[in-house]
Amino acid sequence: MTALAARGLTRVFDHADGPLEVLRGVDLDLEPGEVVTVSGRSGSGKSALFALLCGFDKPDSGTVELLGRPLPETPAWQDCAVLPQALGLAHELTLAENVALPLRLSDRRAAVADRVDELLTELGIAALADRYPGEVSYGQQQRAALARAAAPRPRVLLADEPTAHLDHDSVAAALAVLRRVAGEGTAVLVATHHDQVHRVADRRLALTDGRIVPA
Ligand SMILES: Nc1ncnc2c1ncn2[C@@H]1O[C@H](COP(=O)(O)OP(=O)(O)O)[C@@H](O)[C@H]1O
Ligand SMILES: [Mg+2]
Repeated sequence: MTALAARGLTRVFDHADGPLEVLRGVDLDLEPGEVVTVSGRSGSGKSALFALLCGFDKPDSGTVELLGRPLPETPAWQDCAVLPQALGLAHELTLAENVALPLRLSDRRAAVADRVDELLTELGIAALADRYPGEVSYGQQQRAALARAAAPRPRVLLADEPTAHLDHDSVAAALAVLRRVAGEGTAVLVATHHDQVHRVADRRLALTDGRIVPA
């Protein structure tokens, strides 16, 4: 079954100088186990599209189906996990507590600590587990946000520029995590400018003039 399917998505934002048609009919299918990258210049609408795909925002027209059903108002994280461009870590929780959060919300309560430790270690931030987001660098926060999205082994993982603040080695670690979750059956969609990320993709797409085209 297709993990995520978008049809004819449009989104117009009203600005002082008139309406801005950011998405003009986006069609997108994401299959289990594949890593798909979306490129596009800054301001092309990648984040706006991701917000529609995970239910943070509603399209003006078009549909999104998650696991063969209309996208629910608030998808469960084990169905669709998100790494937003702005990260969205809870600042009153440590990195380890942030990563544990979606696991504690899901039914699979067993082995939370092991899963958190495994991901933090793989991403090179295990030594920072008990620090708060405000006590680590933005790149380290970004890796914690990736760990949190991957933790529940979601059916769909949407990562918006997940390597924007990472050095070369950390990018490799982040890509290894994305490939591994895809290997476990997760459908992974990544917005990125990084060639290093595009190289590990199964399919490359671009967002141009409000539509998705092969890159
Ligand atoms: N909530 C919003 N209200 C008004 N304009 C928005 C909103 N979100 C995004 N935009 C505009 O839509 C365009 C696409 O933004 P965005 O999706 O963030 O681009 P990208 O992620 O590709 O850099 C930009 O011109 C941006 O200013
Ligand atoms: Mg963006």
